[in-house]
Amino acid sequence: MRRLLVLHHRHAEWVPALQAAEPRLDIRGCHPRDAATLEEAWLAEAEGLFTWKIPPGFLARMPHLKWVQNGGAGVDHLCADRSVGPHVAITRADGQFGFWMARYVVAHLLSGVQHLEACRQAQAAGEWNPRLIPEDLTGRGAVVVGYGRIGQQIGRALEALGMDVAGVVRTARPGLHTLEEVGGLLPQARLLVLCAPLTVETRGLVDRRLLTQGHGRLMLINVGRGDLVEESALLEALDEGRLERAVLDVFPVEPLPTESRLWRHPKVTITPHHSGPSTPRAMVPDLVDNLRRFAEGRPLTGAVDRERGY
Ligand code: OXD
Repeated sequence: MRRLLVLHHRHAEWVPALQAAEPRLDIRGCHPRDAATLEEAWLAEAEGLFTWKIPPGFLARMPHLKWVQNGGAGVDHLCADRSVGPHVAITRADGQFGFWMARYVVAHLLSGVQHLEACRQAQAAGEWNPRLIPEDLTGRGAVVVGYGRIGQQIGRALEALGMDVAGVVRTARPGLHTLEEVGGLLPQARLLVLCAPLTVETRGLVDRRLLTQGHGRLMLINVGRGDLVEESALLEALDEGRLERAVLDVFPVEPLPTESRLWRHPKVTITPHHSGPSTPRAMVPDLVDNLRRFAEGRPLTGAVDRERGY
């Protein structure tokens, strides 16, 4: 039986789900902080690893490793991890992240344009305020940077709200825009959503130069990676009225350090990297095929291109 280690803080949830999906595997689970307690002999023969972040030095204990399945959507941290040998296949699963993230984006967008907070405040004051008219999103522009499976799901949700969606991808494709075109799209946009992977091309994409195209009616939602945005440029744009609001679910350092100015900024909403929870229910359907291939010793599908970064 081939061995798969689940090194994950929620291993107790993942092991039964993966075992049920592929009973022909010998699967063990462990919290990363308890990795030292793993039995060396078992680990040394294990060929598969399901994980989110690999503790430094850990892979020296898995000399037969052939497969790392990422426990989340983005694989930038695994692509950058030099301890993962070039012969090891890294795979990712989009799962239901698109649905989750579409709900997140729509929730934060509508909370603003439907004035939910102001309505609650008016209610608390016993005030009937007919001026609290929701904003009409029909035909308003939404730019979605990263238009793979997740971005398209977000795009469809925004289109269902009546918005005019522009999808942005790395390589030019009919009907879509490229990263270089984002700045030109912003003057017409009400919303800029970031759900792109972190790569050499996307790191620092939202910088001072891009935000010169911003305006006081532009809302930013980042569900991709914190490093897609230059924090100082973001704060400057918010302070100078070149952004209306920023909703941030991801940060270069997580948890977001307490001293960060973002915590206290009145135009910033911070959420704890929860826009796309990695649950077995959401991800296992995407993993079944590779689990079967792994159990049968067949080649895996969908390995990420480490140079490209996704
Ligand atoms: C991610 C995730 O990749 O949460 O950020 O899945």
